Amino acid sequence: MSGPDCYVGLMSGTSVDAVDAVVARFAGTSDRPEMLATHSAAPPQGLREQLLALSDADRRVSLLEFGRLDQAVGQWFASAANAAIAKAGLTASQIAAIGSHGQTIWHAPDAEPAFSLQIGAAPRIAADTGCAVVSDFRNADIALGGQGAPLVCAFHRALFADPDANRVAVNIGGIANITLLPGDAHADPTAIRGFDTGPGNGLMDAWIQRHRGHSHDAGGAWAASGRVDDELLAHLLGDDYFHREPPKSTGREYFGLDWLDRRVATLGRTPTPADAQATLCELTAITIADAVDRFGPGTETLYLCGGGVHNRYLVARIAALAAPRPVETTAHLGLDPDWIEALAFAWLARQRLLGRPGNAPGVTGASGLAVLGGWHAAPPAAPGT
Ligand SMILES: Nc1ncnc2c1ncn2[C@@H]1O[C@H](COP(=O)(O)OP(=O)(O)O)[C@@H](O)[C@H]1O
Ligand SMILES: [Mg+2]
Repeated sequence: MSGPDCYVGLMSGTSVDAVDAVVARFAGTSDRPEMLATHSAAPPQGLREQLLALSDADRRVSLLEFGRLDQAVGQWFASAANAAIAKAGLTASQIAAIGSHGQTIWHAPDAEPAFSLQIGAAPRIAADTGCAVVSDFRNADIALGGQGAPLVCAFHRALFADPDANRVAVNIGGIANITLLPGDAHADPTAIRGFDTGPGNGLMDAWIQRHRGHSHDAGGAWAASGRVDDELLAHLLGDDYFHREPPKSTGREYFGLDWLDRRVATLGRTPTPADAQATLCELTAITIADAVDRFGPGTETLYLCGGGVHNRYLVARIAALAAPRPVETTAHLGLDPDWIEALAFAWLARQRLLGRPGNAPGVTGASGLAVLGGWHAAPPAAPGT
């Protein structure tokens, strides 16, 4: 392969906690990146609330506001990319491409026609960084009848599949997803399966924000202080989503506070906020463990990644439910769990540049492989530079 082999991955998930930027080098033909630098940037003041409001079904947003938010996200992402590139000691000319997931504001794989909408103006990122940008990764898969999600599974295979092991990778962001990696997935990309299991941290974040004004439940301490409300848990687990066969994917526009409030209302009593938090934590843990039991019966080890690994109580509950199978983080496989998803978008940008597919039809249900993402060229270098 000629030309630069460094890529930037930019990811802000449904939590809208931060955009994670990673600079990764792929040496030669290896799919395994070396992380050169990372940078995480919280959204500028007020932007998180505006973005969360965009995914609120009851709110009307003007096209003017929509267009401005698209650009504001592009500026936020570009400054994170620039910081990461500088930390790596590189310049734009040494970056082959930036893979920018964008900020999902609506994911509707089951709408007619289906779509997934991410904002974060890629031309703005290209202009502000001087790098080529790949964006809009999900819609090529959706156009082939796929869910367009989860996209991280093909990368999980490239990193974690082992012919001698039967593994599951579990990514716990706002939404949680699993990638089933039986031994034969190492040689056969079609052997992987994966899907969104449902809420990850997102409902817990929203609940603690409402009741205590915190962005997240640090360490899961508040959840741990409550008692699981079995009746509420049964109401939550009754949702059709958990019983649907994969392929399936979901988002915050479905598993949001509205969803929770409707189910609490059917109880006819109000659980204490701490008990509700304990119940939401249990919901995430149970739906992950059940998904592994049902679809990955031979699983030997679960490897966790995403911000949920910092919720100690959640991890303890997953470990208890998955026992006797060990639950580790991807750090045990040599990759920091906080950066896997951003790395996936660096990898997907490289797949795009090399003309290789990025989806996994066994995961998304697409009718075939697809090269993912739209290409936005880097601005031409000024004369003399
Ligand atoms: N110390 C912590 N304790 C509990 N939860 C945490 C902690 N740190 C991060 N998280 C959770 O991780 C989330 C961010 O995870 P991330 O993988 O970035 O999700 P997303 O892909 O949705 O952005 C936060 O919103 C929070 O819920
Ligand atoms: Mg995040």
